[in-house]
Amino acid sequence: MGYMDNYERDAYGIVAFWLRNNLEHGQFFDREISHHELELARVNQSMVQNLAGIWQQAEQKQGDLTTLVNESEQAISEFRHFLLHGMDKALRCQVIVSTPVALMDHMIREAEESNNVFDLMKSGGQVLVSDSVLHESVFWLRQMADHLAFVQHYLDPSNYELQDKVRKMTHKFERLFLQANALNTIIRKPRTEMLPVLNAFRQMVISETKDLEKFKLELDALIKQCAAITTAPPDLLEHLAREAHHLWRNLEEGITT
Ligand SMILES: [Fe+2]
Ligand SMILES: [Fe+2]
Repeated sequence: MGYMDNYERDAYGIVAFWLRNNLEHGQFFDREISHHELELARVNQSMVQNLAGIWQQAEQKQGDLTTLVNESEQAISEFRHFLLHGMDKALRCQVIVSTPVALMDHMIREAEESNNVFDLMKSGGQVLVSDSVLHESVFWLRQMADHLAFVQHYLDPSNYELQDKVRKMTHKFERLFLQANALNTIIRKPRTEMLPVLNAFRQMVISETKDLEKFKLELDALIKQCAAITTAPPDLLEHLAREAHHLWRNLEEGITT
């Protein structure tokens, strides 16, 4: 399936977004597990199969939504525990994988955010627009800065121009992340109104994130044509573009999904 920037943002579509996200993490991780780690690879594959099955149901909008959300939450929790265990072993130098610890932590945080969103769906709770804008910014801007750092990790060092561009973009997103954290304590709860400073920040993040999505898709095309030297999995940039799209859409709509 090609890049989807117009995925349906109904309840099934949101569940499918998060399932696909975690499923692809498992597929990417699969490429990076050493053949010395057969048991780790086997467990990861069974997680991927389980997530893929539930994702298919969500895509086809099959079955009861509450059951689907519960099953998704369960499968993603198991995957999160598996990654946590792997990260714990990596920190003790007891496992041979080429995945950086920061990337494992990144995937664990997205698994946790998946379940935050599912809990929100189940409770039916309303989130104030300002709370959503701050939550989305604090969570996703760190992910966006990470994405660029991971792109750089995978890009061959001989891509000097591209390396320089990615490094500059990483710094830009790190600064936006710091600003989001600052605003998160400057603007105290209850956040019943949208302050002009927060709205200006939101517009800036939307614009920068749209540019980032575009950049990721341009690089995606190069990688798929084998025209950029990289060890990135072929679908990685598309995955990262989808997350950028998710961020700016949520900011525009003032929601957490
Ligand atoms: Fe992801
Ligand atoms: Fe991510």
